[in-house]
Parts: sequence; C-alpha cells; structure tokens
Amino acid sequence: MATPPKKPKTSYVCSECGASQPKWAGQCPDCGAWNSLNEQLAPARPAAARGGGYAGLAGGAVIETLAEVAPEERARTACGIGELDRVLGGGLVGGSVILLGGDPGIGKSTLLLQACAALASSRRVLYVSGEESPQQISLRARRLGLDGEDIRLLPETCVERILYHAAAEQPRVMVVDSIQTLFTEQLQSAPGSVSQVRESAAQLVRFAKQRDTVVFLVGHVTKEGALAGPRVLEHMVDTVLYFEGESGGAFRLVRSIKNRFGAVNELGVFLMGDQGLREVKNPSAIFLSRHDEPTPGSLVMVTREGTRPLLVEVQALVDESSLANPRRVALGLDQNRLSMLLAVLHRHGGIGMFNQDVFVNVVGGVRIGETAADLPVLMAVLSSYRDRPLPLELAVFGEVGLSGEVRPVPNGPDRLREAVKHGLRRVIAPAGNVPKGGVEGLEIVAVRTLSEALDAL
Ligand code: TYD
Ligand code: MG
Repeated sequence: MATPPKKPKTSYVCSECGASQPKWAGQCPDCGAWNSLNEQLAPARPAAARGGGYAGLAGGAVIETLAEVAPEERARTACGIGELDRVLGGGLVGGSVILLGGDPGIGKSTLLLQACAALASSRRVLYVSGEESPQQISLRARRLGLDGEDIRLLPETCVERILYHAAAEQPRVMVVDSIQTLFTEQLQSAPGSVSQVRESAAQLVRFAKQRDTVVFLVGHVTKEGALAGPRVLEHMVDTVLYFEGESGGAFRLVRSIKNRFGAVNELGVFLMGDQGLREVKNPSAIFLSRHDEPTPGSLVMVTREGTRPLLVEVQALVDESSLANPRRVALGLDQNRLSMLLAVLHRHGGIGMFNQDVFVNVVGGVRIGETAADLPVLMAVLSSYRDRPLPLELAVFGEVGLSGEVRPVPNGPDRLREAVKHGLRRVIAPAGNVPKGGVEGLEIVAVRTLSEALDAL
C-alpha cells in the first residue's frame, strides 16, 4: 500500500505576541489576544542548531565592497500600453513582481488582459486565472477585440501546480488573477486567509526571481481600503499599483504606491469604454472639463503626480449650516488638511466659517496627496463663500503654512509650463517657485503670504 505524502509541519503563530501554538484557538493562550493565531509553516531546524556551530554554513553569499559591485542597468520591456509603462517607471523589469490592487469591477483583469495581448506577440505570456473560467476570459477578449492567439491560459488555484506548469511553460510574463484565490498545499487554512495569501505570494516571488519572470499579482481591496488579507504583500513585491477613482465614472487612474524601479505616485490615466481601457495621453485636457461661464467656487490647480504636472479643477461649496458642528467634507483631499486650512484662513486672513458647511471636491476622482493644493482649495472656498467667480484663465498652486505663509512646492517651473500649454493666462504661485525671467505668455502673481494671495484676487 502506498504511503500518503507526509504533511508539512505547520504551527499557529500569534500575530500579537509571536508565541507559537500547535493547534488553532480563538484566543492566544499566551497573551490573550483574540483571533490572532495564523497558520504558518514550521521553520526548518537551522543548520547552526544541528551542532558544529556555524562551520556547516560555509559556501553561501560572500561579502564584497560596495564599490566593487558593478551596477547593473536592468533592461526594460515596454508592455505596449504607454500609461501602464509610465506607472511602472518605463516598462517591465525582468524578475520583478508587481501587485495590482483595486476594488472589484474596476478593471484589473481588463487591464492585464490587454497588457498580455500587447506583450504576447514578442514574448511568452501565461495568464493564470483562479477567478474566471477560460470561457469568461475568452468572452472578455472578444469584447476587447483581441484574438488571444498567443496568450496561454491556465485555470488553476493551487500554487504548487501553477508553478509546475509555469516551470514547463517558461513564460517571460505571468499574470496571477487573483492572489486571494490561491492556496498552497502546505497549509490547511482557507484560500484568502492571511497565511495562505502570504505563503502563496512568497512562492510566486521566489519563482519570479529564480526564473527572471515578470509576475503580476492581482489583489482585491477590502472595504477598509487595505489589500484583503495582509498588507505584508506590499513588502514582498517590487511594485505596488492601485486603481483609484470610482468604478461608476469613466476614468480609471492607476497609481504606483511603491516602486523599486521607478518613481512613486506616478499616475496613469485610462478611460473605460466598451472596448476596454483606453489610454489618456493628455490627462490635463480631460480633468479640465471647464464651464463656459466662470462659476463661483471653481478653480484650476496645478498639481504634480509622480513626474507629470497635471491641471485639475477644484470645486468648493460653502453654505450656511444648521448644525452645531458645521460639516467639512473633502473628496479627493485630506479632510484634516481642509480643517487646518480653514483655521489658517480665519487666523491669518480674518475670514471665519464656523457657521458654514464647507464641501470641497476634486473633479474627475483624482486623489491629491500633495500640499500644493492648499492655496487653490482656500481660494475656491473663498470664491464660493463670497459668491464671486474666479476668472477662467486663472490657475493656482502653493502650500500654505500654519503661520499664513505661502511656501514653494517642488518643480514650480514645470507646473507653470503646463499651465501655459493649456491656454491659461494667469497663475498665482509661491514667490519661491517663480523663475527669474518669468514664463512667456503667462502673467505670474508671486505671493509670499496668504494675505498677499487674497489681495491678488
Ligand atoms: P474587470 O476587469 O473584470 O474588473 P476587476 O478584474 O478589477 O474586478 O472589469 C469589469 C468592469 O469593466 C465591468 O463592470 C465591465 C467593465 N468593462 C467595460 O466597461 N468595458 C469593457 O470593454 C470591459 C471588458 C469591461
Ligand atoms: Mg477580475
């Protein structure tokens, strides 16, 4: 009679105190934390512990001087979708692992299928799907107008079997859709659990490095906005990309949160149509869907996402509040920052809004994380409060400090040039950002303090 294969040893480790238990329990017997035990592979006995000290460990990596290490410029492969290449830092790097996260239905599978199709003509591509059947993928490919001639498909969820097939197929690019559906035979917990996701990803990362294969991992985002299961995934991979924007709207923004091979916060802009995602080469033109008439509370700001300046419209609505605690709502911006700015406006501009609800929105679903939005937000708020429209050809950027000073932001000249490029005539900018000779075709109002900026209106 054949003996069944030996089960790998696992133990349950508490994520709070690190104690290891042989069996799962709802509460850690050591520290008393609830629901903190996660299954883990029991570590192999370290060689040093088997006796003979460290002598048995000879023959691993050697130590060298940093100066002796020849820097290796990794070749990049353009994946054929310009905006995706942009967020990746200029193309795919061999052996890198890229995590693509986002809400369900936002377009992760669509984007990767399109990228696969673009890549497949020149290199071997394997699309592993644990979520959809080959028929469903074929339907989508038809909808996207792809012939799928060179895309190899594997419906599988067991990591060991995926790696077995991949080792035989030797793809240069492998897509795993999604990491939450995978399981490894070495653990007993359910697919999607922290331990399963971590261990499956670890095996795929090892494979990518050993075989110099690019691996895309699709990851779902939970309601709280974190990647379902563990944030640990973000540490294990080379690049983390997130889909932003509402899945209701037409725009899809892909942002790099972490990139070992390029700039972070780089933003790729796509339009979801009936033939999949289309690149938007000139996003400023789209986010600037302006009105014909100047309207109160609307203003163009010059922001910078990654390495590209971007013009976006901010809108503010200020309305008398009936609440004891008036509302401060910021969409696409940090709410605390808005409260802070309103305090600065009161203290240094003499304009109080304690009996007003303040709503601020960044048009197009872009999330602005940088401080250059401070001054434009305040001006939009003021414009709505006073019910006085701002000129259409005005753009603003600048950080506002707690003492009412307007501070320069990185890459001022770039932003000014972007404003001219899109036909804006006047810019209110921090004095420190204005180049000596000015910018041709642009009237620049350089300001040092908030009150100077308010006077400039
Ligand atoms: P999908 O890539 O399946 O999302 P995810 O993998 O992130 O869950 O995208 C699905 C959504 O995109 C779905 O709501 C339909 C829409 N869609 C289009 O609008 N046009 C298209 O050409 C395709 C393929 C999908
Ligand atoms: Mg999908």
